[in-house]
Amino acid sequence: MYENPRLILDSSNPPEPGEILWRTPSNIAIIKYWGKHGVQLPRNPSLSLTLAASCTDTVLEYAMKEAPDNAIDLEFYFHGEENEAFRTKTLAFLESLTPQFPFLRQLQLTVRTGNSFPHSTGIASSASGMAALALCLCSLEDRLFGTLQEADNFDTKASCIARLGSGSACRSIFPYAAVWGATPAVSGSSDQFAVPAEDLLHPVFKDFHDDILIVSTAEKSVSSRAGHALMEGNPYAEPRYAQARNRLTVLVDALRTGDLETFGKIAEDEALTLHALMMCSNPSFMLLRPDTVALIEKIHAYRRDTKHPVYFTLDAGPNIHLLYPGEIVAEVRGWIEDDLKQHCADEWVIQDWVGEGPEEL
Ligand code: DP6
Repeated sequence: MYENPRLILDSSNPPEPGEILWRTPSNIAIIKYWGKHGVQLPRNPSLSLTLAASCTDTVLEYAMKEAPDNAIDLEFYFHGEENEAFRTKTLAFLESLTPQFPFLRQLQLTVRTGNSFPHSTGIASSASGMAALALCLCSLEDRLFGTLQEADNFDTKASCIARLGSGSACRSIFPYAAVWGATPAVSGSSDQFAVPAEDLLHPVFKDFHDDILIVSTAEKSVSSRAGHALMEGNPYAEPRYAQARNRLTVLVDALRTGDLETFGKIAEDEALTLHALMMCSNPSFMLLRPDTVALIEKIHAYRRDTKHPVYFTLDAGPNIHLLYPGEIVAEVRGWIEDDLKQHCADEWVIQDWVGEGPEEL
């Protein structure tokens, strides 16, 4: 998709050197993407809320190469320092994208990137990172060729390119919420790219919080890539995909009507299903820590005692995402201080909320 051999620069009229900067948030899946096939295509549709504070800033600098050759010329800096591992990964990704962006071979490129949160903790740094890079590449195409002037085209291509980098990244392109994967519940939805889901949201979900309780900052013991691959031999894979499709339809209704209870039930069931799938993969993975379980029990008890609509979800890691509406922020923050922080590594909590999506700076 989006292959275009005509996107070649005229070497007799080279562009001025320049730079592009995108700030791009992470997202938290309520219906999880877990299992893929083909070229990064999902086995089931997923739905996420777009975050605000957990984000990646990426600058893409470019200049015409002085002597043309066929290689991709890339320097890569992570938090101001050259990073060879990320450079190698990004180089392979850019190589794979030359059918969509053939002009990449004609340029000297420098990527400078950094996150507002720690790398590889189960906070989806690949989501915001790959989405930021995809947005930079689409802005570069548009600046050099004027081919992505319409906002819808721009967003769809950026989402498709982000997906090729990391599946969940395709959902970070849109404000408030996004759906990735074809589902009859959302018109225009596709396996190739995410679509905006802001219009599906009752106002209560546009003022929603996600405080991330950092139980551990240790590197993940299984990469998402390896985790997805394990779904191929998982005996529960097919029923799981059917379950996700059904839950997405029910969730879309709950989002429309502002039904917090149904939203919370699905969010928690999805988180536990994701971890159950990892536990019964071969080899098996247990990413929950004792403090994760202690926090889940405290959340259940707090909800029972206060009737406050506070729910959790988890990514492929031990950290708890505490989900709740803005109107109870003061009570919940007080409770986190008094009772939950003690379960976090260095008492670390990232306060996040549903936000307006990526920003070109
Ligand atoms: C548990 O998008 O990180 O966060 O496509 O291999 O890069 P790759 O995987 P990735 O998987 C995310 C899995 C998840 C659920 C979700 O975000 O939907």
